[in-house]
Amino acid sequence: MIFRQLFDPETSTYTHLLADERTREAILVDPVREHVDRDVTLLRELELRLVYTLETHVHADHVTASGLLRERLGSKVVVGARAGVRNADLALAHGTGLRFGDHWVEARETPGHTGGCVTWVCAQAGMAFTGDALLIRGCGRTDFQEGDARRLFRSVREQIFTLPDETRLLPAHDYRGRMVTTVGEEKRFNPRLGLDRTEAEFVEIMRGLSLAYPKKMDEAVPANLLSGLAPAAEPQPGPTVAGLVALAGRQDVEVDLGLGI
Ligand code: FE2
Repeated sequence: MIFRQLFDPETSTYTHLLADERTREAILVDPVREHVDRDVTLLRELELRLVYTLETHVHADHVTASGLLRERLGSKVVVGARAGVRNADLALAHGTGLRFGDHWVEARETPGHTGGCVTWVCAQAGMAFTGDALLIRGCGRTDFQEGDARRLFRSVREQIFTLPDETRLLPAHDYRGRMVTTVGEEKRFNPRLGLDRTEAEFVEIMRGLSLAYPKKMDEAVPANLLSGLAPAAEPQPGPTVAGLVALAGRQDVEVDLGLGI
């Protein structure tokens, strides 16, 4: 198995490349539009053929490269069945999956950060791509896009923590330089979702967060519902993040995005 972890420093987003060594078939999880040239170059250098791009969810902080990659390389855009992406090639239901080379990647619905979140599990490689459902020592926010703390708690406990403890978890973001974790590690050390937390405690933690409105959300969500191919919108005058903080009337709003969005 060929594996590469790629990074977007502007939004702290990870893109993950997996490929079969024998057939050279590759998948990309959560590609970022600004890095399409980087990713195409890497695929060419490694002599890989991109067959699928997989989205963990409709991102609110960046625009996906999946549509552009389809145009350039002929890859198929794959999303979860409940993501709502209108021009995807495949919308996979819970428990279904895809083959690339000798490998299989399975969709597990893990709603709660958004209503359509999927964790992609590659059991042979011992890896799962959790998107923002579970971050390293954290989790994605649950205050928009059909976010629901109770659903997220159950998704993590029932769909991610039931994987073998040694499973490597690759999130869509990290804001503190961490790159990979394991199921066992997060069960022990995740301050929100670790096994010592109850659902009620988790809901209370999420309710108590005061988070700024994501600055790219109004552009990113509509674009991502069209695989990143939506026409660019004219910039609209509106409240700035600083303005929103003032509107919220609070000093402790987390402007520096400390959560997956
Ligand atoms: Fe997100």
